Amino acid sequence: MRMQAAHTPPPGGAPPDRPGRDTPASGGEAGRRGEAGREMAAERRAGSTAPVLAVDDLWVRFRTEDGPFDAVRGVTFDVNPGETVALVGESGCGKSVMALSIMRLLPEPQAQIRRGRILFEGQDLARASERAMRQIRGNRIAMIFQEPMTSLNPVYTCGEQVAEAIRTHRRCSRKEARELALEAFRQVGITDPERRLDQFPHELSGGLRQRVMIAMAIACRPQLIIADEPTTALDVTIQAQILDLLRDLQARLGTSILFITHDLGVVAEMADRVVVMYAGEVVEQGPVQAIFRRPGHPYTAGLFRSIPRRDTPRKAPLPAIEGVVPHPSRRPPGCPFAPRCPEARGVCREQPAPWVELGDGHGARCWVHVEEAREVTAR
Ligand SMILES: Nc1ncnc2c1ncn2[C@@H]1O[C@H](COP(=O)(O)OP(=O)(O)OP(=O)(O)O)[C@@H](O)[C@H]1O
Ligand code: SF4
Ligand SMILES: [Mg+2]
Repeated sequence: MRMQAAHTPPPGGAPPDRPGRDTPASGGEAGRRGEAGREMAAERRAGSTAPVLAVDDLWVRFRTEDGPFDAVRGVTFDVNPGETVALVGESGCGKSVMALSIMRLLPEPQAQIRRGRILFEGQDLARASERAMRQIRGNRIAMIFQEPMTSLNPVYTCGEQVAEAIRTHRRCSRKEARELALEAFRQVGITDPERRLDQFPHELSGGLRQRVMIAMAIACRPQLIIADEPTTALDVTIQAQILDLLRDLQARLGTSILFITHDLGVVAEMADRVVVMYAGEVVEQGPVQAIFRRPGHPYTAGLFRSIPRRDTPRKAPLPAIEGVVPHPSRRPPGCPFAPRCPEARGVCREQPAPWVELGDGHGARCWVHVEEAREVTAR
């Protein structure tokens, strides 16, 4: 076990060997599909070791009428080629601010990156010009949002919008762009794609609109897709179809995915590695099976307890983590999870917890491991 400075989680972990399926969300056909996807991702990583995205000690500050606060605090993680990394945490933990920082879509000047790097294929996006970002957004990094209606323009047809996105980054005629849009519609499984091209967003169901967004995202063959709660607004059946689609596209196209969700069931299906955020900082990260097998942070353990198990009686209440995430301007001293933590001890309320490596790319920011280390030393 090795301790690091409190703000520096280790770089990305080793490729998973075998997915741990002895978890609350485990088992079933979907689980096996996740396993196949993970194997393919591991094979792709074997050919290329440099991360597609390396976020390094990133701090994002908001300046509001009530004063400044840091919504993202020293976040460090990698996304490797062909890998899906899940960014997990409750509402208000800083997941979307993190995603918007990568895309440089923060509401500036109110929000600003004040420290750290966002290395994308070697280029630091934290310092890239707006011109450079326009070349990257939608082309080399694409984003899928929770609610497609907010991203699709209601006055243009779906086909026009996808074709226009293609023409922003590729030199081609309108006719060629429409052909490419049609091809993208086919790839994301939109039935009757010629007709759908000429329909307006409001004429499509929520699931179809999300497929259009995914078609737009993959049309320029990005290296990285950031999906921010892409299925939260959909009903369960459509949600499963969209997750299947994303997994399938990733296997075929080799795209890396940063998958933002508060749903650990989805994480089990989708992710190779998991980054858990709490109150703006990374509190745990590691290969998905290591985290599911033995969560290293009481917050992650609490998130696991609050997802339904197959053997949970239908009407049994799920244990939720009591309390709420503190607003970044009202963080308690010491560990921000201490007021909600069943394992909190004296030191937790006074000093920020250090980052502790637990092995094989798995680490957590918690005093528990330091205490354990001391006990071992004393023996
Ligand atoms: N434009 C903004 N102005 C002021 N504060 C903001 C703004 N956007 C986000 N915040 C604050 O930053 C913190 C992180 O918000 P963020 O949207 O990243 O959370 P999240 O983890 O994505 O939550 P959710 O699961 O609800 O989407 C929150 O405390 C939020 O109130
Ligand atoms: S550092 Fe202390 S309060 Fe924070 S999660 Fe660990 S045990 Fe709980
Ligand atoms: Mg969000």
